[in-house]
Amino acid sequence: MTNHPVNEQLTKAQVINRYLKPKLAVKESADAFASSNIALCKYWGKRNGELNLPVNSSISISLGHLGSHTHISLSDTNEDQVRLNNQALALDSSFSKKVLNFVNLFRRDQKIPLIIDTRNNIPTAAGLASSASGFAALMLALNDFFDLQLDKTVLSAFSRMGSGSASRSIYSGFVRWNMGVDEDGMDSCATQLETQWPTFCIGLIKVSTTQKPVDSRTGMNRTIETSHLYNSWPQQAAEDLTSIESAIFSQDIEQLGACAEKNAMSMHATMISAWPPLVYWLPESLAVMHKVWQLREAGVSVYITMDAGPNIKLLFEEQQLSVLEAEFSTMEVVRPFAK
Ligand code: DP6
Repeated sequence: MTNHPVNEQLTKAQVINRYLKPKLAVKESADAFASSNIALCKYWGKRNGELNLPVNSSISISLGHLGSHTHISLSDTNEDQVRLNNQALALDSSFSKKVLNFVNLFRRDQKIPLIIDTRNNIPTAAGLASSASGFAALMLALNDFFDLQLDKTVLSAFSRMGSGSASRSIYSGFVRWNMGVDEDGMDSCATQLETQWPTFCIGLIKVSTTQKPVDSRTGMNRTIETSHLYNSWPQQAAEDLTSIESAIFSQDIEQLGACAEKNAMSMHATMISAWPPLVYWLPESLAVMHKVWQLREAGVSVYITMDAGPNIKLLFEEQQLSVLEAEFSTMEVVRPFAK
């Protein structure tokens, strides 16, 4: 245990250093892939911003082959190189800084210039955030490149320090991120739910191409600080988590969908009541929502979830696919358990 004064927050580096061997081993190159994920019970709010420790536990579904590939290799110049989707980025761009700050936690004070090449195959039409899969893939690639030999729960906890939702992208299928209670956050990591649901589908509907004005990190901090509705969130999320988890195991789409939709709407209620208000919905988002509610009235079992943005994700089973494809022509479908 590192000695540190009581009440002083541990830094990422202090926590990570406890798991690193004294001498850094370096391979020539390493490759990794991590799926993107959609939360069914949302992570919304941090109890510790340095380590991204959440206020509540969350559950997600990973999106199979949709995600991030990261390739790390030694640089032949004496500078790092950061590439995203086949383009070299300036080292002072916000993406490069985020990536290199994370890499430095593992490279420590050793000056080993690296090429970090990230490719996202998340279709541009899907409107999904790539930071979860991006940090998880980077962590997996660093584990290989520096021969860290960390186990999956540690990889999940370390990915969480890059972006909270990345803790869940270490696994496929349904994933639960336990909020944990330990001060160093090492019990705040994800585990896979041991179940398969072959007919489960996610429909991605993009309603806008413009970048969201306020990112999740800023949005959740503003919500905690200013929304009077946030007080009820942790308790509600804990109840939703239990109900969603049991619906997953009993493959009950009505229970899962209703609870996931209510959870997303409750999160948005806390956002809308923040100041200045955070309204991520666009008129087009509402149009899709109304259409979904009409379909449900007509007996189609389909439910909505949304994150900090205007795009809609539908939750349903394969039986509903043809009806939904006819209604939403631009919908991108993911079957996480398809063989
Ligand atoms: C609404 O994981 O992007 O998508 O930890 O600050 O990087 P940071 O936040 P991030 O937040 C995701 C919020 C969400 C809900 C969720 O994915 O659980």
